[in-house]
Amino acid sequence: MSLLPGQTVVITGGASGIGAATARRMYEEGASVAVIDVDEAGGRTAADEVEGHFFAADVSDPDALSAAMHQAAEALGSVTVLFNNAGIGSARPLHDYSDRQWAKLVGVNLAGTFHGIRSAVPLMQAQGGGCIINHASVSGIRPTRFEGPYSAAKAGVISLTMDAALEYAPIIRVNCVSPGLIETPLTAGVLGNAELRTVVEAATPLRRVGTAVDVANAVVFLASPLASYITGHNLVVDGGSYLPNTQADAILAQFGM
Ligand SMILES: NC(=O)c1ccc[n+]([C@@H]2O[C@H](COP(=O)([O-])OP(=O)(O)OC[C@H]3O[C@@H](n4cnc5c(N)ncnc54)[C@H](O)[C@@H]3O)[C@@H](O)[C@H]2O)c1
Repeated sequence: MSLLPGQTVVITGGASGIGAATARRMYEEGASVAVIDVDEAGGRTAADEVEGHFFAADVSDPDALSAAMHQAAEALGSVTVLFNNAGIGSARPLHDYSDRQWAKLVGVNLAGTFHGIRSAVPLMQAQGGGCIINHASVSGIRPTRFEGPYSAAKAGVISLTMDAALEYAPIIRVNCVSPGLIETPLTAGVLGNAELRTVVEAATPLRRVGTAVDVANAVVFLASPLASYITGHNLVVDGGSYLPNTQADAILAQFGM
């Protein structure tokens, strides 16, 4: 039996990585999917793969995202699930970030999530309910060195998730996922290094690198009736890497991470 029959799902950042994998998993579970992304070519390809729709928008631009959300709602007939997934990373010492870089990292990762919630909630309220999943990170639970604005933005996403869960219960459930290091284009620089990859695997209790499908499966679960009594939760998907006594951070720090 499929988990998401008849669900109408919008995925921001669905052109690549975890977003594209989630589009495929949701489609396999019976959902209709719309992808919103700045990457038009990638977004169209990802949407075509799931017989879905694509709308171009930058999530840090509130008007553009609102317009795309409404276009998606019209194409799908409703929006019952929103995955606020679009995100960008970067790595440098905190004092080296320019105002522009700070604004961009916080604008996409945190404000983009807020813009998504603000666009989708009235649609969900009008139809009597829905489900939102935000993309946070273990960096939002405990910061990763050199990812200051990213970590701060992801901590904000976790807080915003809990606030929205309180505000929109009982009709809209709001949760987030916090992956560890997952193999996607975002982490190709790190995981493409064979030596570093071996270190990551050794430092991970489940002894492998996480895949986009690992996270997509967690998102499918949170969107499904199996999670019908779960709201305001931050689901960590990290193979156990950041449990208190794994020392994964100390091991990675030896490699400048
Ligand atoms: N890969 C990891 O290890 C990891 C770990 C924790 C959290 N995450 C989070 O997962 C999410 C997806 O990352 P990924 O690893 O799949 O990366 P990715 O680079 O493969 O995919 C990100 C997608 O977001 C899109 N995007 C970027 N900026 C955008 C904007 N302003 N508006 C609309 N779309 C935009 C990109 O075009 C791309 O399609 C991000 O929020 C990221 O922070 C990833």
